[in-house]
Amino acid sequence: MDFGIINIKTIATEKNGALSYFEGGRDIPFAIKRVYYIYGVPCDAKRGGHAHKQLQQFLFCPHGKIQIKLDNGMSKAEIMLDSEQKGLFIGPRLWRDMIWIQTDSVLCVMASEFYDEDDYIRDYNAFIDF
Ligand code: TYD
Repeated sequence: MDFGIINIKTIATEKNGALSYFEGGRDIPFAIKRVYYIYGVPCDAKRGGHAHKQLQQFLFCPHGKIQIKLDNGMSKAEIMLDSEQKGLFIGPRLWRDMIWIQTDSVLCVMASEFYDEDDYIRDYNAFIDF
């Protein structure tokens, strides 16, 4: 399945916290065209419920805990974003659900393309056909 955990490079200090960073095309396998973030989602709520035809994405959770469920139509995977330093690359053609395990969790998403509703597949049977 076309996904991968990427450990985000981090510079930690003893007393003044940490700084984590990544660069498009270097630490993640695409140039970043769009950034969005999702917040204010209640605990146990589920978002996602779609796949993308072309889009590549890199997800991380800088605060809280979010479970990501992936499905390529033949197999499934579950990834817990529970560290500021843990990133998830998601390739195209994967159905995804995101479940808010902890209230106030923030999901940040880097995307390889500008927003395009035509790139979405929002019906599971249509996804399987695709
Ligand atoms: P969607 O990707 O379906 O969010 P989620 O998977 O978290 O439920 O997007 C929700 C709405 O926001 C949908 O109407 C499309 C719109 N949207 C934009 O207009 N621009 C964007 O960059 C994104 C990601 C979504």
